[in-house]
Amino acid sequence: MPYSHPSTFMAVFPCEAVHARGRGVFFVCGIMGYVGPRPAVEVLIGGLRRLEYRGYDSAGIALGMAQGIHLVKRAGPLRVLWEELEQNPPPPAGMGIGHTRWATHGGVSDENAHPHLDCHERIAVVHNGIIENAAALRIELESRGHRLRSETDSELVAHLLEEAPGDLLHRLQAVANRCEGAYALLAFDLADPNRLCAVRRTSPIAIGFTENEVFVASGAIALAPWLKRCIYLDDGEMADLRPGHADIFRLHDLAPVQKAFHEVSVSGDLPDAGRHKLFFRKELFEQPAAWRSVMQGRLDEAGSVDLSDTGLTHETLSAVQRVLFLAMGSSLHASQMAVERLQQFAQLPAEAHLSSEFRDTRTFLEPSTLVVAVSQSGETIDTLAALRHARALGATVVGLVNAPGSTIARESDYVFDLRAGAEISVASTKAFTTQAVALDLLASALAAAHGRGPNIESLSALRAAPTIAEDFLEEFRLPNDLVERCAQAPGVIFLGRGQDLSLAREGSLKLKELSYVWSEAFAAGELKHGPLALVDATVPVIVCATDSRHAVKLRNSLAEATARGAYGVSIGADLNATMHIALPIHDATAAYLIGTLPLQLLAVAVAETRGCTIDQPRNLAKSVTVE
Ligand code: AGP
Repeated sequence: MPYSHPSTFMAVFPCEAVHARGRGVFFVCGIMGYVGPRPAVEVLIGGLRRLEYRGYDSAGIALGMAQGIHLVKRAGPLRVLWEELEQNPPPPAGMGIGHTRWATHGGVSDENAHPHLDCHERIAVVHNGIIENAAALRIELESRGHRLRSETDSELVAHLLEEAPGDLLHRLQAVANRCEGAYALLAFDLADPNRLCAVRRTSPIAIGFTENEVFVASGAIALAPWLKRCIYLDDGEMADLRPGHADIFRLHDLAPVQKAFHEVSVSGDLPDAGRHKLFFRKELFEQPAAWRSVMQGRLDEAGSVDLSDTGLTHETLSAVQRVLFLAMGSSLHASQMAVERLQQFAQLPAEAHLSSEFRDTRTFLEPSTLVVAVSQSGETIDTLAALRHARALGATVVGLVNAPGSTIARESDYVFDLRAGAEISVASTKAFTTQAVALDLLASALAAAHGRGPNIESLSALRAAPTIAEDFLEEFRLPNDLVERCAQAPGVIFLGRGQDLSLAREGSLKLKELSYVWSEAFAAGELKHGPLALVDATVPVIVCATDSRHAVKLRNSLAEATARGAYGVSIGADLNATMHIALPIHDATAAYLIGTLPLQLLAVAVAETRGCTIDQPRNLAKSVTVE
């Protein structure tokens, strides 16, 4: 990134658009480090800009020079830090670390922002994650006279490094063994010039180098402007980084570890919402292209599915007798739809588990069970933990991810790359529907492997879905009455049956995470068993009816609600609703995808009506990488 003039920089610096103002309970800080001939400040800011979308509330950099550490950190968006650097340009430096922070231990303030220094201001540290024994460490350090400047757990690492013996790598090893919790740590010490050391326990770290420089960051996206390949630290690994070198070791005994390179498949371009102004809208309209991308080379015109790029062969799939999905949030909703699809296409037993619940179960998994970990980010801690649990039980795991270099991908036996393109908005759109397409393909491949002919009608509808979606998005206009009612409602109820129950859940999640309107999805048959008590004239009831097989029962459920005054809405089949949103296709497989679009459009319209931030909803993060 050119060290651009403020005017140029400001013009392309939409940091407020993605700046988070919430007080997250998730730890998705961004770390960045560099050593080499470039101006380190340029690389650090360029990398942090690409990590902004993860959400943060303060940012900072520390530059290491012979004469000392130049530390600049500010609460607020990255732009505030940049303005400070523009007004007071730092001395030239080829080594530095940077950070974007979500407040956890301690509020949002300049002092609590990272990087943190030791007492003598010779060591700088940035941290992503949580140090669970911070309180005890703080008491210990203060009792030995350390002057702690912030309320954070992260600063303790700088002071522990100050005390530890040996060179930086050994000292960081000793400190990591004192710290309990999940974290990624990156540090430098002026006593050890042109050297960074890092350690990973759960929070991801990507590393890349050229012949005379080295880069390190929380994710490959921050390395993309400079590198085409990188390596990833795994849990319990350390990195000793110098220009042109990245030596990797096991944390517990410093045994050298050989790492494979992975392609940096994301673009180096800065994320930009362009004419859509919101990443949510941009990604909503990118769905047809994403669906084409995930089907490319995997579904041909004859309806045959080829998943050989994932490693899943006909032989592998023919041995599968049960499928078990692990996922959270929207990824779970796609998985729940896939359970229906598998029973419809392949007549195979399948179940979808909330990862956070599965990881503690005593489930027995036969070797013939195929476990599918569904995760857009590939870093969701609960799904990663559930995957590890499943593997410990002997299962074969497929990672269906939008990040082929992610931890879930690297710990899976097979990787099904979603190829949906970067999804910046916290609320998922194209990743969710592209997961649904991918899982339709998986169900079809399993059907074929078990000798069941392809569902030609559904697969041809699937192939046509992108064009149908483009036409729908071009023509569909959301009724203002519905938007207003939802914006003012005390709550909104979504109903569905079969595949439409997962769609109802996704519609409810989109509405609540974007507009903060209370919403809940119920199985339509459940309505009379309690939820009907919630219904009155202020409550819109939205029924998802993309599978027409359930239309009669759904019509009855909706009638029960409208008889109590509810404003009834149907999407798909006509249920005699007050408002009917027809879909231009009846095949359930494709209608599920098209039916998602009005739900997404409704959620963002209600959120805009209520003045919400949309791309970065309060309290939420794009990827929940630490509990
Ligand atoms: C969906 O809009 C949310 N962003 C959230 O529920 C998300 O789907 C969930 O956190 C799972 O994320 P993953 O797909 O990256 O694992």
